[in-house]
Amino acid sequence: MPWQSQQKYECLLNINNAIITRKTREGLFEAIATQLREVCLYDRCSIQLYDPMDSSITYFATAKGIKPNGISCETSRPLSAGAVANMVIESGKPIIIKDLSSVAHWTSADSMLMAGLTSTMALPLIIRDKIIGSLHCSFKKCPENIMELGGFLEDLCKQISIAIDNMLSYEKLRNINEALEKQKGFVLEKINKATEAFYFTSRKMTKLKNDMDLVAESNAPVLIVGETGTGKDLVARYIHNHSPRNQNLFVKVNCASLASSLIESEFFGHAKGSFTGATVKRIGRFEMANGGTIFLDEIGELPLQNQAKLLQVLEDKAFERVGESTPISADFRIISATNQNLTKNIRAGKFRRDLFYRINTILLEIPPLRERVEDIELLVRCFSSNFAKIMQRPEAQYSSSAIDALLQYQWPGNVRELQNAVEKITILSNGQKLTEADIERLLHPFDFEESPAQEIQFLTRDEMEKRHIKEALERCGGHTGGKRGASQLLGIPRSTLQYRMKKLGISPCSETH
Ligand SMILES: Nc1ncnc2c1ncn2[C@@H]1O[C@H](COP(=O)(O)OP(=O)(O)OP(=O)(O)O)[C@@H](O)[C@H]1O
Ligand SMILES: [Mg+2]
Repeated sequence: MPWQSQQKYECLLNINNAIITRKTREGLFEAIATQLREVCLYDRCSIQLYDPMDSSITYFATAKGIKPNGISCETSRPLSAGAVANMVIESGKPIIIKDLSSVAHWTSADSMLMAGLTSTMALPLIIRDKIIGSLHCSFKKCPENIMELGGFLEDLCKQISIAIDNMLSYEKLRNINEALEKQKGFVLEKINKATEAFYFTSRKMTKLKNDMDLVAESNAPVLIVGETGTGKDLVARYIHNHSPRNQNLFVKVNCASLASSLIESEFFGHAKGSFTGATVKRIGRFEMANGGTIFLDEIGELPLQNQAKLLQVLEDKAFERVGESTPISADFRIISATNQNLTKNIRAGKFRRDLFYRINTILLEIPPLRERVEDIELLVRCFSSNFAKIMQRPEAQYSSSAIDALLQYQWPGNVRELQNAVEKITILSNGQKLTEADIERLLHPFDFEESPAQEIQFLTRDEMEKRHIKEALERCGGHTGGKRGASQLLGIPRSTLQYRMKKLGISPCSETH
């Protein structure tokens, strides 16, 4: 009996719906097999997936009540030369066999005959000119209109191929996603462990640590202030790692290292082609920090023109990627840090007062090392032991006069400078006991030779930093980057060093690299 075109149309439509709605292989196969049954009374239906890598096939899925059941979909089997599936996959053309007994010598025909089947048809599933598998329908009694049926199934297979290809891509993405989630967990665990070391004994730092623990539990914006190297990064990470957000990312952005024109796309992402150089779509740091923490380091350096936009995003908790108009909402916690005096910047018209209030719900001030001398010895001993382990060298020994010299020093670069000094000591001392003179030689000699101790205290912070950077540059032969560059010595990124040099009026002319 010839079909009504309406029946064909309905079948196509239903298969299309299944493509969109079914989320599992079994669900999709069941929907396809059920729809097929409406138009073709098969006794056995299967979909085979073809893997060209090793010329093997596997069943795509099974479904309850649809024969053959009880088969395994996980195990693949080699595509044997005498199998119907092989002929379809090799030729890329449908095969209709009205009488299986005429081809009883074919391996798969034999087993079908044993199961009481008399005829079969098999059609290739093709997507973008690639064969991904085959669809098989077999019958105990050959349908009268088997040729017409074959023609219709050929049309239908275009839809089925799309459905199967979508399902395979979906599964692949889901697997990648699961693997990435696992990797993320692993990385987070490593980061958390690596950043735990936080040494202090002074009263000031004990109070700060208590505040950090309290703050970690809340969602409030935190502003961390402190001189360079006091541990602002460390404190920000500590808060994130001890907050309920610690299963998501801690995303750091250095506001000083970005050109104003690039800040918006770095913060909020951009669409492909939204500006010259935007060759791929990119998600921004705020989007990455969804569920986690965004750390805006050196926020005092954020250009005024970007401050208004940031304020608006902090208020709306939503933004658009550059070149797109769909708003994206993200749930992030904001922590900012600066070594600048923001109140002074506000008065100078360089920082927005409204933004300052937004980011400054909780203010954490990290005192400079010279104001918590009690921490110095502990830090020296802990860093010495850590470096000795890492470098597999004997731990440095300090005479009491050497410790005194370390306590006397003003540490303009704070804990970072101390950490670098201990690293140098570990390399150079070779386990020998250090004297006061050794320490004096190791620490910046110009501070002691050129100016008496009390004069150091009268230097402004910028002057102090300028001298410090110049000394580092001198030691590194003017190189800012590379393994022997000043940025490495100072423990800051090269871009930050170059920025600070520009800011402090240090000429890069001696820089050779
Ligand atoms: N209390 C501490 N215990 C252990 N390590 C510390 C402590 N404080 C700082 N450090 C270490 O000192 C180095 C400098 O710290 P950090 O980068 O957090 O300083 P910062 O204030 O962010 O500096 P900058 O202003 O230059 O960005 C890091 O290696 C950090 O791990
Ligand atoms: Mg920092």
